[in-house]
Amino acid sequence: MHNHLQPINLFEYEQLAKEHLSQMALDYYSSGAWDEITLRENRAAFERLKLRPRMLVDVSDRNLTTSILGQPLDLPLLIAPMAFQCLAHPDGEVATATAAASAGVGMILSTLSNKTIEEVAAVQQNFPNTLQWFQLYIHKDRGLTRALVERADNAGYKALCLTVDAPFLGQRERDKRNEFSLPPGLHAANLATISGLDISHAQGESGLFTYFAQQLNPALTWKDLAWLQSICPLPLVIKGILRGDDAVRAVECGVQAIVVSNHGGRQLDGAIASLEALTEIVAAVDGKAEVLLDGGIRRGTDILKALALGAKAVLIGRPILWGLAVAGKAGVSHILSLLQTELSLAMALSGCAQLQDIDPSLVKY
Ligand code: GLV
Repeated sequence: MHNHLQPINLFEYEQLAKEHLSQMALDYYSSGAWDEITLRENRAAFERLKLRPRMLVDVSDRNLTTSILGQPLDLPLLIAPMAFQCLAHPDGEVATATAAASAGVGMILSTLSNKTIEEVAAVQQNFPNTLQWFQLYIHKDRGLTRALVERADNAGYKALCLTVDAPFLGQRERDKRNEFSLPPGLHAANLATISGLDISHAQGESGLFTYFAQQLNPALTWKDLAWLQSICPLPLVIKGILRGDDAVRAVECGVQAIVVSNHGGRQLDGAIASLEALTEIVAAVDGKAEVLLDGGIRRGTDILKALALGAKAVLIGRPILWGLAVAGKAGVSHILSLLQTELSLAMALSGCAQLQDIDPSLVKY
């Protein structure tokens, strides 16, 4: 890539990534459910929220470091769990994990990865303090689920991140039209040893939609968290909460972190923007768990806004796939460094030298 053509922000990466992806992969990554109201609303909520900067604060040095569940991060950022990253680049989740570790940000590996739990964990050999969590989908087959959890624990992942907003997969109509499937040679690597689990050949439907309907457990309830905790000593993070009462319930179940999320607008269309759920959830949790947020983060100012409303850190999703598609690990590294530079400048311009200075008075609807 010639330097003068290198994207200078996450939106330019999105444009450029279109030239590097198959139509099926691009549609899978970019789609929201049904009319994509929630997908757009995640962005719109950030655009509506305005900042109230403080002046005449010494901001010559900014400190962006934090910690999540006791583990240090160089900036308040984790890479969201996203399936099938080899659709973007042959190095897939290994490239993403390596870029995350070198930038000092966290990474959450999807159950539905193209690289295995162990291949991605191997990145920890070069970056022993890196924050890696494993995202879990609870399958109808408890033995299969237990095996995934044990592999994640043995491989050194530091927490389980249970996705709770997907008893079924949301209906993404472009995937249905495309009859989404993995191209030859790509598999759901963590599930590949189980026969009949290929994400392929779904007539008239997305292969992933069919997979969810056949394999995932839509009967999951709060009491199943106790089962998960009984088979695994790792801290439990719950992803996909949009209501204060659910957040309270999660805390009562011993959940240590909550990801406020609508799954990037890919599940229930018409759900509120994750940013709009944040204030209620932070109040309900009342410091008893760490609160994270994803959905629509594209700028350093978005991270600032989410932190002002009480998030301890944010997750970034699709832009990582755009970076991966454009330039593999280097593309992901560049996306992360753009966000770091933008957050640092946004903090300076709003009178915040450190993350602790970012408080609710900084924002106004
Ligand atoms: C899988 O979780 C997806 O959102 O496609």
